[in-house]
Amino acid sequence: MIGHVRDLLMLGALAAALPAPPVSDGTVSQVPAIVTKPPRGTEPGAAPTLVNSATTGITTHGPYSGTPTTIGAEQGPATLSATIPSNPNPWATYYNSNGKLTQPQPTPYMPAGGVGTNGTLPVYMVQSDFDYESVALGLHQEYIELDLFHYGLEKFSEQDFLDAGLTAEDRMLIEYMSIQETGHATLLTNMLGESAPKQCTYNYPFTTVREFIDFNVKVTRWGEAGTWGFLSHLDSKEVATLLVQAEAIEARQQIVFRQMLGLHGMPIWFAPGVPQSWHWTLLAQYISSCPENNTRLVWQNFPNLHVVNQPNPDRVHPNNTKDWEVVGNRTGDPSDSKISEAESCVHLNEPGVSCAPAISRTRNEPLSFPGREVFLTWDNPGIPVGPNNSYVTSTMAGQPKFVAWVSQLNLTYTPLTMTGPNSGSTYQPPNEVYETDPAVNGTVFIALTDSDLFVTPFNLTMINPHVRALGLFNAG
Ligand SMILES: *[C@@H]1O[C@H](CO)[C@@H](O)[C@H](O)[C@H]1NC(C)=O
Ligand SMILES: *[C@@H]1O[C@H](CO)[C@@H](O)[C@H](O)[C@H]1NC(C)=O
Ligand SMILES: *[C@@H]1O[C@H](CO)[C@@H](O)[C@H](O)[C@H]1NC(C)=O
Ligand SMILES: *[C@@H]1O[C@H](CO)[C@@H](O)[C@H](O)[C@H]1NC(C)=O
Ligand SMILES: *[C@@H]1O[C@H](CO)[C@@H](O)[C@H](O)[C@H]1NC(C)=O
Ligand SMILES: *[C@@H]1O[C@H](CO)[C@@H](O)[C@H](O)[C@H]1NC(C)=O
Ligand SMILES: *[C@@H]1O[C@H](CO)[C@@H](O)[C@H](O)[C@H]1NC(C)=O
Ligand SMILES: *[C@@H]1O[C@H](CO)[C@@H](O)[C@H](O)[C@H]1NC(C)=O
Repeated sequence: MIGHVRDLLMLGALAAALPAPPVSDGTVSQVPAIVTKPPRGTEPGAAPTLVNSATTGITTHGPYSGTPTTIGAEQGPATLSATIPSNPNPWATYYNSNGKLTQPQPTPYMPAGGVGTNGTLPVYMVQSDFDYESVALGLHQEYIELDLFHYGLEKFSEQDFLDAGLTAEDRMLIEYMSIQETGHATLLTNMLGESAPKQCTYNYPFTTVREFIDFNVKVTRWGEAGTWGFLSHLDSKEVATLLVQAEAIEARQQIVFRQMLGLHGMPIWFAPGVPQSWHWTLLAQYISSCPENNTRLVWQNFPNLHVVNQPNPDRVHPNNTKDWEVVGNRTGDPSDSKISEAESCVHLNEPGVSCAPAISRTRNEPLSFPGREVFLTWDNPGIPVGPNNSYVTSTMAGQPKFVAWVSQLNLTYTPLTMTGPNSGSTYQPPNEVYETDPAVNGTVFIALTDSDLFVTPFNLTMINPHVRALGLFNAG
């Protein structure tokens, strides 16, 4: 503290010729306090230990080159049906037209209804295969973020970050976010029990700080949207309660990374939710190998849908983005930041043009816009992916006919124009969620489908048998 004050005084002396900057008040009051510390170890009230440390976890990174010992997703003793038929909802008739209570109250100040409100004691453990597999997927997400945020800080120097407009204090924020993940991983592990998946090794696409941040924007988008997608479907509402408390933090991380990329923090009114198999498809490509006997997941890996002209957030004029201006061929790969200084908005100081880190940015030229033609290619199924290349991409869909845009509360289909066996194009849709809120903005999910099946946020998973390939689009 004394050193800090001295530094401020020295800075003050150097700046003597300039108008005096405000100086912090040197006098500090002694406030009432006691000496205390958190209980640890065997002391009463001590906090549980963490499952993994952010700083001593994984040390190797890169692709997997071995031969898998197991192949394919986890499977149950039988599969009952290819699709699920829809049924009428018995609760569809509750409608309260006057705001008055319709049932006797269980206790004073409590209305009738709700789940987990009748005195049944809460149990904070997964309660079904659905719960188990969803939380196990969430745990993989926590583990990659734990490793990823920390690794970016190790890989790139303080100077590299400064060159991207990010300070030592920003690095400390990223480190803090990495440590938050150790807590999340611990929570999820505890709700699964001893068979919970362990941390794996990862293979990342980025080569610069900008690309690291761009990748984090995507990873946190699918992590957040993946959790919102299954949260209210969980059997265990106790697990859902704790998960939402972790996910609220992940959502903040997504905003922070967008701001670090000079993007609008949240150019949407609602965050989308996506099916588990979408989350797993996007995530698994960056897991190179997992420890022996690591619990396997049931979810599907869809073939990749590539955006040929993915708008590059580093460009002064996003319209000038070249084809394949991404660093690799996995769906979540960041845009290539290694463009010329004249083409880049990273070091520009001009409002409306700059994409340097900031709390808020309003860029004059949008990354993308309704009506922009989006060129796509997609992979065939049957490609080994994920931990140890031991999962295989698959699809149950027929010939692709539509592009499904999943963003905010909406799913919008646009027609696909085929230009080759595995290529086609479509136009970004203009629809709004509510008047004046364009549905497509931020990082959105796009899927190639064989039909325009009507689904809504709570039954989006029904689309899966119709998904031919899955990707991400950088709409803003
Ligand atoms: C409380 O609700 C649960 C379902 O949410 C039900 O299984 C249980 O029987 C109910 N308990 C009582 C005492 O009504
Ligand atoms: C994956 O690779 C790791 C490291 O080589 C190995 O320990 C593990 O047993 C492998 N798992 C599978 C399912 O092949
Ligand atoms: C993996 O499972 C096999 C078969 O159950 C067992 O023999 C082996 O010890 C296990 N390996 C580890 C690292 O737990
Ligand atoms: C980008 O392209 C669109 C569509 O052609 C056009 O309307 C827009 O003006 C272009 N942006 C700039 C800055 O020229
Ligand atoms: C990605 O794969 C497509 C084929 O789907 C290919 O045309 C393209 O050149 C690849 N891009 C990169 C950057 O490897
Ligand atoms: C997305 O949001 C940004 C920031 O508000 C805005 O500049 C851009 O025009 C939006 N895109 C669309 C398609 O509305
Ligand atoms: C978008 O979502 C809103 C809110 O659920 C809904 O009212 C609207 O019909 C949806 N629009 C489209 C085109 O699906
Ligand atoms: C999804 O839910 C909507 C009601 O919100 C319903 O109209 C639609 O038919 C459902 N889709 C499927 C495939 O079940």
